[in-house]
Amino acid sequence: MPTLLGIDIGTSAAKAVLIDGEGTVLGVAGCEYPIDQPLPGWAEQDPEAWWQAACAAVRGALAAAGAADVAAIGLSGQMHGTVLVSPAGRPVRPAIIWPDQRSQAQVERATRQLGLRRLGRLAGNRPAVGFTAASLLWLLENEPEALAASDRVILPKDYIRLRLTGHVATEVSDASATLLFDVARRRWSRELVTAWKVPHWLLPEVLESTAVAGELTREAAAELGLRAGIPVVAGAADQACQAVGSGLIDPGLASCTIGTGGQLLTALTAPTLDPELRLHTFCHAIPGRWYSMGAILSAGLSLSWFREHFAPGASYEELAAEAAGIPAGCEGLLFLPYLAGERTPHFDPQARGAFVGLTLRHGRAHAVRAIMEGVCFALRDALEAMRELGPGPAQIVVAGGGGTSHPWQEILAAVLGLPVTVALGPERTAVGAAVLAGLGTGLYRDPVEARARTVRYAPPVEPRPDDMARYEELYQAYRGLYPALKGSFHALDA
Ligand code: XUL
Repeated sequence: MPTLLGIDIGTSAAKAVLIDGEGTVLGVAGCEYPIDQPLPGWAEQDPEAWWQAACAAVRGALAAAGAADVAAIGLSGQMHGTVLVSPAGRPVRPAIIWPDQRSQAQVERATRQLGLRRLGRLAGNRPAVGFTAASLLWLLENEPEALAASDRVILPKDYIRLRLTGHVATEVSDASATLLFDVARRRWSRELVTAWKVPHWLLPEVLESTAVAGELTREAAAELGLRAGIPVVAGAADQACQAVGSGLIDPGLASCTIGTGGQLLTALTAPTLDPELRLHTFCHAIPGRWYSMGAILSAGLSLSWFREHFAPGASYEELAAEAAGIPAGCEGLLFLPYLAGERTPHFDPQARGAFVGLTLRHGRAHAVRAIMEGVCFALRDALEAMRELGPGPAQIVVAGGGGTSHPWQEILAAVLGLPVTVALGPERTAVGAAVLAGLGTGLYRDPVEARARTVRYAPPVEPRPDDMARYEELYQAYRGLYPALKGSFHALDA
């Protein structure tokens, strides 16, 4: 039975998963690395730490699976990062990763000078801090010597592919999230590259995500404990891989991730832009497909913040059980999850978190439930934006740590007014990367066959009609809060 290896370079850890052709997970392992913060608001990682962690994870997954003859390798990775590599293929400086905030001035200036509409229309996306183009402009202005020493700019998982195969390249799903890419035509945009002052020679070749990008070198094979010559496909951005691992290749389904951040994502058959640029439009890992995505910054992070400061020692299961005992709507308590500013729909780094409606009746369990509900209302904002562009999804596939919580699934179903299911099996993002390897090497005829063979869903959680009605009323109140509080948030930030 052929075995496929998927490697995911996440924000906090590398994960490796081995699957058979039917998507059964044979072995999985992970290895963590830190986020370095040399200055407040900066976020960097050492690409060599990714490589070491990837090697440890692959060796761990191989040990867990017993002997496995790997037929092909696929990659997934955190998006928007900036990795400068030298002509010898080594990092020129630490990678600037997506949570990095240093490029705020560059984003504001570029948006003012070039116009939000023009930049948005060309890139399919609103300029955002921490995205490759913005980080590159910061580097150009602050560390020109780093750019001068560089041969190419690539994204996090591309560095791992470079170590695996010796070839420098990127692929459409990550390239489309750099703000330098013509998302509709799936190629670098000369106009955008010039607008962001990026030297054209810095940009690497762009492949489709399923393309075979090279073969495992003898050197890399020795480090991983694999044989040389295994084909390595280009792979994709973590969101696109998660979509593949959750079976999202056509419109109709949306995935909703409740991890540190939260994302609502649906596949598109054409590069449909949100005219208001609340949603991202990126290239899917599946050729001829795109996806629309709303991203909120503090989903699970809101609950982990609360637990750390107000419920130390309580497990997430205990907190969720407490919240399940509180009626839907928390007796009039609402939570805005903008603890780290917000992307969709407000794109406002100065937005702030808030509990609104507190009374003497409210205690810890109310606060926990209000947080879970507030995260779902924020995701509902993304759903409403999607519904303005088309028919919208009929069912939600939930993912991420928070997505495994049954109380949270019930709240999500009622707030979105849609049935909620999960794709069965662990590590859907790394599994998606492994499936891309199978698609690129002909194990699967096409994405439809790959999905039929590798994705199975749990029975859906249906929205409870009473809760739905209550949440409908509260959502209207929730929607009024950001406009009402925006001025105060900005004054407090100043
Ligand atoms: C997507 C995004 C995150 C990172 C995290 O726009 O910023 O999902 O990909 O890995």
